[in-house]
Amino acid sequence: MVREFPPGVNRRERSQRSTPVRADRIRWDARYAAGDCRHDVDPAPLLAAWIPRLRPARPARALDVAAGLGRHALLLARQGWTVDAVDISMEGLRILRRRAVLAGARINLILADLDRFECRPASYDLIVHTFFLKRRLIARLWRWLRPGGVLYFETHLAVQGGGGHSRFALRPGEAAGLFARWEILEASEGPVGEGDREIETARLVVRRPEARGRGAPGSGGPSPGRAQAGGARAGA
Ligand SMILES: C[S@@+](CC[C@H](N)C(=O)[O-])C[C@H]1O[C@@H](n2cnc3c(N)ncnc32)[C@H](O)[C@@H]1O
Repeated sequence: MVREFPPGVNRRERSQRSTPVRADRIRWDARYAAGDCRHDVDPAPLLAAWIPRLRPARPARALDVAAGLGRHALLLARQGWTVDAVDISMEGLRILRRRAVLAGARINLILADLDRFECRPASYDLIVHTFFLKRRLIARLWRWLRPGGVLYFETHLAVQGGGGHSRFALRPGEAAGLFARWEILEASEGPVGEGDREIETARLVVRRPEARGRGAPGSGGPSPGRAQAGGARAGA
């Protein structure tokens, strides 16, 4: 079953006039319906390497935002995480549902526009945010993570010949500013293998500090970040 957020949004949106978000949804639905799986390559290598180190002792909850066909949601579910996967494309979520059934994995599927999606604060131990860039979303991800929870972030880097779409690309070095208030566990920029090609990405493993936080990024609280994106620090 695919849950809708807010309930009934799918039906309501169909009767509304065109909006940029609706256009995005139609575009992604059409791509997935046509069998376009170009993003559906192996899981991001850095995330795959970190997952075994991230699992807390208690039952662990993860959120995959803009999950697409769920390469990361499936990886986490197979490793015992309780996973919520949010995406705006019903077609994509239907494909993910079939794949989860085939894999014997359980994933909570949520149809939602991430500009409107909300959940209880401190709901997740891990959030995965890959190849979907909405800079304003980052402060909300902080709220959705438990203190001590980790965000895996990766997106295209805007460099000549980088192979990405500029709309979803960070400028080189930009991540350092975006994640200044997070504790950076690992960060790098540069080429990475994606399927049978190489692309330029910015990738970060960052933690919402355990300290009794006074505020999310941008709220004026103290900055717990200890390392800069681009200059990696050894993992936790
Ligand atoms: C390039 S794919 C990335 C998929 C996945 N994160 C991965 O790395 O394989 C981008 C995804 O963002 C979703 N998307 C686009 N706009 C969205 C929005 N406003 N809210 C939620 N999902 C959205 C699309 O449906 C698509 O599945």
